[in-house]
Amino acid sequence: MKRITAAGKTLLVCNVDGAFYTVDDICTHEDASLYLGCLKGNEVECSLHGGRFNVITGAATAEPAETSLTTYKTIIQDKQVLIEVESN
Ligand code: FES
Repeated sequence: MKRITAAGKTLLVCNVDGAFYTVDDICTHEDASLYLGCLKGNEVECSLHGGRFNVITGAATAEPAETSLTTYKTIIQDKQVLIEVESN
């Protein structure tokens, strides 16, 4: 995982078996950085209370997280990771 800032947002870029996916870095439960958690397969686990999210769909997959993360279209082009982010 890599945490980045783009267009005023803090995002988490995740490498899942060579494919890249981007979600909001902040957990929807209580605002912890998911970067401090760990990525297992296609799920990131929050380090604060153990909530989990599917980084491909953004769906919350384990309580106490209930609200999905926003996902961002992510592609590889000319060996660069490009992320589609709208500014606030
Ligand atoms: S802050 Fe992430 S599960 Fe509570």
